[in-house]
Formats: sequence, C-alpha cells, structure tokens
Amino acid sequence: MCGIVGYVGQKTALPILLDGLKRLEYRGYDSAGFALFSGSNFLIKRNAGPVEGLADISEDLGKTEHLGIAHTRWATHGAPTEINAHPHRAGEIVLVHNGIIENYSQIKERLMKHGAQFSSQTDTEVFAQLIEHHRKLLTNKTPKENPESIILAALKTSMSEVEGHYAILLMSQTVPGKIFGIQNGAPLVVSKLKDGCLIASDIQAIIPYHNEVCFLPQGEIFIIDSGDIHCKNMHFEKIDWSADKVEKDGFESFMLKEVFQQPLVVADSLSGRLPIDSKAPFIWDHQKSHEVLWKNAKRLYLIACGTSFHAAMTAKYFFERWAKIDCQVDIASEFRYRDPIFEPGTVVGVISQSGETADTLAALRLANAAGVSTFSICNVKNSTISRESGFQYPTKAGPEIGVASTKAFTSQLTILCALALDIGRLRGINQSGENSDLSFHALARLPHDLDRILKQSEIFINMGATLKDQRIILFVGRGTMYPIALEGALKFKELTYLPSEGFAAGELKHGPIAYIDKDVSIVVLAPKDEWYAKTISNLEEIRARGGHIIAIGTEGDTETSKVANEFIGLPEAAWGTQPILSVIPLQLLAYGCAKALGRNIDKPRNLAKSVTVE
Ligand code: G6P
Repeated sequence: MCGIVGYVGQKTALPILLDGLKRLEYRGYDSAGFALFSGSNFLIKRNAGPVEGLADISEDLGKTEHLGIAHTRWATHGAPTEINAHPHRAGEIVLVHNGIIENYSQIKERLMKHGAQFSSQTDTEVFAQLIEHHRKLLTNKTPKENPESIILAALKTSMSEVEGHYAILLMSQTVPGKIFGIQNGAPLVVSKLKDGCLIASDIQAIIPYHNEVCFLPQGEIFIIDSGDIHCKNMHFEKIDWSADKVEKDGFESFMLKEVFQQPLVVADSLSGRLPIDSKAPFIWDHQKSHEVLWKNAKRLYLIACGTSFHAAMTAKYFFERWAKIDCQVDIASEFRYRDPIFEPGTVVGVISQSGETADTLAALRLANAAGVSTFSICNVKNSTISRESGFQYPTKAGPEIGVASTKAFTSQLTILCALALDIGRLRGINQSGENSDLSFHALARLPHDLDRILKQSEIFINMGATLKDQRIILFVGRGTMYPIALEGALKFKELTYLPSEGFAAGELKHGPIAYIDKDVSIVVLAPKDEWYAKTISNLEEIRARGGHIIAIGTEGDTETSKVANEFIGLPEAAWGTQPILSVIPLQLLAYGCAKALGRNIDKPRNLAKSVTVE
C-alpha cells in the first residue's frame, strides 16, 4: 500500500527519493509524487501511474534541492488521479500521508465553514489543511513565536482532532531545512547516513544505504534535519537483511525467485530449531516461557488475513491432531468485530508476513487488551505485530517482494508444523515424538522434497499456460488439502484475474458441482492420505459431468492418473508436510497462466503487499 520516503542531507534529494519509491513499488500503488524544497519554494510533481512516469516528467528537475518528501499512493479516498496523488499542499506546508483519517469528512466540513477550498477527494488534503489552519491561527495569535514551535503546536492540536492510524511527513516554507513527522499506527523507519538522514515507511527503501535503523515510536512528533533525528524514545538497531536479498538474481520476476527460494527458506526457518532426537524438544528463542504458555493453554485462536489465513486454516488440523488443543481460526477483519470468548488459558496467535496488516494488528490488540497470552508468526522481525505480540515465532523467509505470497506461506506452515508437534510433546501427547503423520525427520527432509518438486517447474508452468482461456478454474481438496485448494484459488485470482474458487471436496455436491461441464477445469488435490478413497469418488463425479481434471497426487498413483485428464505426481510425504509440498504446483500453475496472459506478476492490479488500512 502507500509508501513514504523523505531525505534531508548533503546529496541532491530527488534521485534518493525516486530510488526509494522504486524499492517500495512492491507494496502496491497507483500514483506517485514528490515535493522538493529549495529554501524558498516547493517543487511538486505528481503522476497518476508508475514511478518511471514520475521520473520521466522530472528528468530536468531537482538538480539542486537537498530536502524532499515522496509518496506512492494506493487509492482509498478518491480515484488514482494526479490531483489525488500526494504530496498535498495547503498554504505554507506540504504533506505526504499513509493510513486513513476516519473523521475526515467532519473535519472537512468544519474547515469549509472557515473558507477552506479543496482540490482533491482525499483525507490527506483534509489533514494538510487542518494543520495549516492551526498553524495560521497560532501565527496570528503569537506572531513572535518561532515558526518551528508553531508547527509543533499545530501538529499536536491536529493530532488531537483526527481519528485513525497514520504516518505523515511534512515540510513547511516557514522552517527551511527540516522535515516534521508523526508515526501514529503506520510504521516509519529512519536512518542516519554519513551525508544526511533518510526516512521511509519500509526498511526496503533504507537498507541499500544503511543497515542501522530506528522504528520511530508511536505518537511522538519528530523533526529531521541534515545532521540528526530529533525524537523521544529512539532505539537504533541493526537489520540483518542486505540489499542483495531484494534483487531478482536473474529470475524474470521476484515471485518466481521466491518460489524457487522455498527449499532454502524452509531450511532457514527450521535451522537451529529441530530437536536432537525424537524425544527432545524443538528449540525456541524463549524456551521456558514457551513451555509454561503451552502447558496451560486451553484454547487457541489463530487469526490472519489472505494467504496467512490459509496457513492458519491448515494449522488447525495440526494443532487439533497433535496437540489436542481446541483451535479456532478466523479472518482478522471478522474476529476484531466479533465478541470472541477470552477465558483463562486462551492463547491468540496472529500470522502475518508483513507484520503490519491493519486488521491482524487490531485483532492482536483486542487480545492483548483482554489480557490473554498472544504470539505472532511474522516474517518481518521488527514489524508492529512482532513488537506488540507476547511471544514471537519468526519465519526466516527474508524479504518477500512479489505481492502474491509464496515463500512466506511455506515458511509459516513449517513453523506451525514444528510448533504443533512440539506442543503435543509438551502436553504429553505422542510422547515418542514419532508418529505416522509427521516426525522431525520428515520436517528435516522437507527442503529436499521441495527441491525435487521444483525440478518439475516447467511442467507446472506450461500446464498453467494452457488454462489461460478458461472461464473459471476450480480447486478442491479434503482435510489439509482444503485450505491448500483455497490458497491455489487465491494465487490464481491474484495473478491471472480469472475467476477461481476453492472448495472442500465434500462440499462439491452442495453447490459447486453446478459449475461443471466440459469447458470447466478443476484442479483436484488427491495425495495418498487417509481421505484418498473419498477424493477419488469426487473425482469420478466430476469426470461423469465432463469436467477437465488436473489431479495433483502421489508419484506412481496409477488409479488417479487413469481418472484424471492430467496428472502430476509429487513425492510421497508425511501427512504433516503434504500441504507444504502440494502448494508448490499451484503457485506455478498460477504463475504460468498469468505469464501467458501477460499479467504483471509481481504487482497484480489493485492489490497491495502490505494492507495497512481496514
Ligand atoms: C495482502 C497481500 C497477501 C497477504 C495478505 C495478508 O492481501 O497481498 O499476499 O497474504 O495481505 O498479509 P500479511 O502480511 O498479514 O501476511
């Protein structure tokens, strides 16, 4: 979603701002803009379209300015037009903004009564005009006060009047050489460079320049000048992601690179955590408190959005079977507005790649406020969700740039598998640590099995391309293959924009079978698990109605390959690792189809990587 970059220092600001915006493109956006300040005037450029377009119209500009703010906008209030793009100017100030001002229409009405005129439909312009309104009032009231104190006071008053979560950067003609800002529920990261200070909404825009950063504290107004960052409660930390981790490494897209990274990131997520033998515990960062938490746990809620929600759905099967714990899963945007039962022994786990998803964060805050134990499974170590959760079980997938999540999902599932297995051991279930569903040996060989599947990538990609003219693609599975079917359908719609739906195989007869005729393709997940025979019966029902069946099953399964039109065999695997393996062909089918349709693989239309608004 929206991205922010700001720079003040000895270098010319514009190339640094545009480079930062490019690095934030993966978050999803539809317009971009910047404002430079020369000491007397603002130079503002905005473009309804990509950052390249903005760079083109600014080719001869920005040669001398050392101070600037920039933004990529993902439209919420008002269409993605140039007028609605940030920065927004109001009198003496310019502003960029992430997040949402919920009471913007009331404030707008009030300001209009004072004569304010608005050129855009955005909540951002309302925020800018509100700050300017207070700045002018204060200047008239205390004309001798220094302009910096006036801006700070105007920001403070405006903050007390707006409702919502936001991050802003602001420059004022009355205070040259400085950027003002507030982080109030939308992240901002700052770094002190040799030649100045760089601030952004996301570390991706900063790591190529420096790996020591500070996540600005919530609710504090800060000021940045070329020498320093002035803010209370700052803590700098080193980031272990390096710039080369955000390059494509010769792959056509970040998504394809990330699909192929899965054996490695699954191995990294397990590294140092696997037990030394089948009776020993898994190794977590906070071993003692982990044991206390889970020994006393009575109910588990797993909450997430999008792909992370499918990881939660899959994990429900693990937690119920191995840990014998009541596990409920919910979409964060629903959970946060329900009346969930929080009793002693309730544990709430939130799963999020980015660690910034607004609804997931709200669900976590609800649980924290209720006083129950919380944990997170996040891929971004210093994200808001990581920081606010009681315990962390981090994934180690590295930066995921493709909007359609792949390696974060398999890393989440790997951690959830290990966690459920370990909790079962802790609670005295499956004391031996070995069972037919999954042992730590099966987990340890996961990277190898993933590698084997990826060797067949061309087959999946080519098969995906053959689906490009379908009117609808269906995905079905039973048991743990049901959430994987949902994830397959999600990957397909995200990347190809074709209608696609996922179902529990047992639900076919309750509606979805009405879709089936000879023009419909259906991907059936049919591994040799305990539900195999039932899934095969469903396959027969589809065949009887002429549906085109692509079956993803177990290598050497001649029965399924006879019934299906096309058959993909995956290595035989334990029940617990099966979902992690089975999602790979689905990722590649979607990729192959999207490529054949000429879609933008890394930045599908209308989608955002990090959804920081409700
Ligand atoms: C967006 C992304 C998805 C992601 C979902 C949840 O919709 O496009 O890929 O699964 O948000 O994000 P999170 O960062 O919380 O896992």
